[in-house]
Amino acid sequence: MKKILLVMVCAMFANFLNAHCGGCGTSNKTETKMKKAILLVTFGTSEKSARVSFENIEKLAKKRFPNMEIRWAYTAKFIRKKLKKEGIILDSPILALSKLANEGYESVIVQSLHTIPGSEFDELSKTVAMFKHQKDNIADIKIGKPLLANYANLDRVVDLMLQSAPKERTKDEGLVFMGHGTHHYANLIYVAFQALLNDKDVNAFIGTVEGNPTLDDIIKKCKTNNIKKVYLIPFMSVAGDHAKNDMASDEDDSWKSILKKEGILAIPILKGTAENDKIVDVWLDNCEKAMNSNHSH
Ligand code: CO
Repeated sequence: MKKILLVMVCAMFANFLNAHCGGCGTSNKTETKMKKAILLVTFGTSEKSARVSFENIEKLAKKRFPNMEIRWAYTAKFIRKKLKKEGIILDSPILALSKLANEGYESVIVQSLHTIPGSEFDELSKTVAMFKHQKDNIADIKIGKPLLANYANLDRVVDLMLQSAPKERTKDEGLVFMGHGTHHYANLIYVAFQALLNDKDVNAFIGTVEGNPTLDDIIKKCKTNNIKKVYLIPFMSVAGDHAKNDMASDEDDSWKSILKKEGILAIPILKGTAENDKIVDVWLDNCEKAMNSNHSH
């Protein structure tokens, strides 16, 4: 907390200096073009191969919002630390926003790249609120909602996930999506996801690593439906550590191995949701919605 405060104070002080000295001698009025930015915020990943997801989001964001500066922030401190050792510098949301404020950005959309509005989104909302209350900071700061922000998004994403199934899949083969899951009450969204999936495809299931539904729930359903083969697909923005190790690896406790022990052949597909352009569109639609709204929530 001390560190955060220090950064905030530094940012505000630097801003103060900018505001008071920048005007001396030169007229600020000539600066007509408003500086606008989008700050893309994700948990982060240290997996090199998983970064294709973020590269795809950046490419599509630049295409859709060509006049805006696109920046990144990672919320996971241990990932930022790990990347720093490799010479890759990524800021926390607070530091990234402080820099934008310092550089005179007047309009910033903080776009959550989370899947659900869980605890990380709560934290991010607090950070944005903190900046909002500094009137001399970024004049217009808004937050864009995560992927599954409402029912319409949920319905759309369920369809897109079903469409992402491999073409060779037959109807009696299952689809198993691996979500992250959380102890936060927003975990209920995964339960709603399963209900919608079931309406559209009785052999499609979602389970989570840290919440409900669980892999056990899926195994029961596979047995009821007499499913002998499934495709394992991550329902996370990146095919990172969870997808590679907890889902697809040959380790005893991976989903692939557990399913195998239950007599179900599992074929993993290592592709994050952010590699799917149509899913990225949902995030970017949320971003545009935030941009065009008069409210900041
Ligand atoms: Co995790």
